[in-house]
Amino acid sequence: MFNFDEIIDRRQSVGKKWNPETLDDMFGNPNALPMWIADMDFKVAPAISEAIKEVAEHGIYGYSNAGSAIDSYVNWVKRRHNWDIKPEWVLNTPGVVTALDVAIATYTEPGDGVLINKPVYYPFSMIIESHKRQIVDSSLVIDGKDISIDFADFEEKAKDPNTKMFILCSPHNPLGHIYSAEELKRLLDICFANDVLVVVDEIHGDLIMPGQTFTSIGELGEDYANRVIVAQAPSKTFNLAGMQWSAVVIPDAELRAQFQQHIELYDLAIQNPLAIAAVSAAYDDGAEWLDAAVEYIYANFEYLQGQLNEHLPEATVLDLNATYLAFVDFNYLGLDNEALDQLFAKEIGIALDSGHWFGDTASGYMRFNLATPRANVEKAVELMINALQK
Ligand SMILES: Cc1ncc(COP(=O)(O)O)c(C=O)c1O
Repeated sequence: MFNFDEIIDRRQSVGKKWNPETLDDMFGNPNALPMWIADMDFKVAPAISEAIKEVAEHGIYGYSNAGSAIDSYVNWVKRRHNWDIKPEWVLNTPGVVTALDVAIATYTEPGDGVLINKPVYYPFSMIIESHKRQIVDSSLVIDGKDISIDFADFEEKAKDPNTKMFILCSPHNPLGHIYSAEELKRLLDICFANDVLVVVDEIHGDLIMPGQTFTSIGELGEDYANRVIVAQAPSKTFNLAGMQWSAVVIPDAELRAQFQQHIELYDLAIQNPLAIAAVSAAYDDGAEWLDAAVEYIYANFEYLQGQLNEHLPEATVLDLNATYLAFVDFNYLGLDNEALDQLFAKEIGIALDSGHWFGDTASGYMRFNLATPRANVEKAVELMINALQK
């Protein structure tokens, strides 16, 4: 019904991922096969294109209210995550990273500590530093394919009076890990006990692989959900990153008013009418497409894992429970970061996010974006096997 095998030429588009100049700047190879930045090479759900066309044909693209997009979003979260969000709790930012920027600016002061769990989506570190706050890292423990939290270390860091905020990536990019309800509650309890404000980035929360269960913070009950800030978005889920629409859910009225002040300060409230149409259509009519996309992505993962296990058995492929980003350990090659980056980008010819971007403990890993037609995954596998079996 949906053709995820279709190869769509993106090299000529404004999209960053396949743009030869961007690939040259980032990887020193304009022809590298791009499996880096997290967007999909699939056409969006037909309902989204239809909705955008309708607005395009209307021909007037003036200042707009989020209106229907908020309702569609709230209904989606109720259906998909069993969380009753009141529409007035929802604020919008152009992106989830902007939401995190605003949260840092709103609730912390320069010099304050912001806790994260590396290896984690590297803009977390970048924005903490650009706001002149301190990164406080409580690294996740990676033991083979097992991922765990060092709670003693986390608690010690949360107890430091300088630590004011915790930014949690749930599910986790790049480890593809889903936190259990018990883990989430334990993390939040520690933060609440130490007056550390919790901001949860759930941008990958709809990209849950077959057979896996994701617990959104909203499902932990009011005692948890009403005290935190949760950012969600249709951008990863429905391949709408360029549409610039994210939802920030803040049930607490005072925290919400503070956040709203910063949205006004930077005039972030203006909405794009094409995005509103796209978001509404995605949440109202995109479920079937998403479920099919997730199946397809997971089949890509199984293919990648199977091929690497067979032909490059020393490479450890972490389980993919969520996200469309596979994380593979190439430490057996014995290369430093620069040499591994050069090997993949220039010799093998695949553009990937390098593990060390996310944190030192992920040096030697590479992240593969699997939201792409199978033919691209096959090509990547072939390139790797040819180069690495030597
Ligand atoms: C965990 C996480 N947060 C945020 C983003 C980016 O969000 P946005 O483009 O909405 O700023 C990404 C993109 O890959 C991500 O993985």
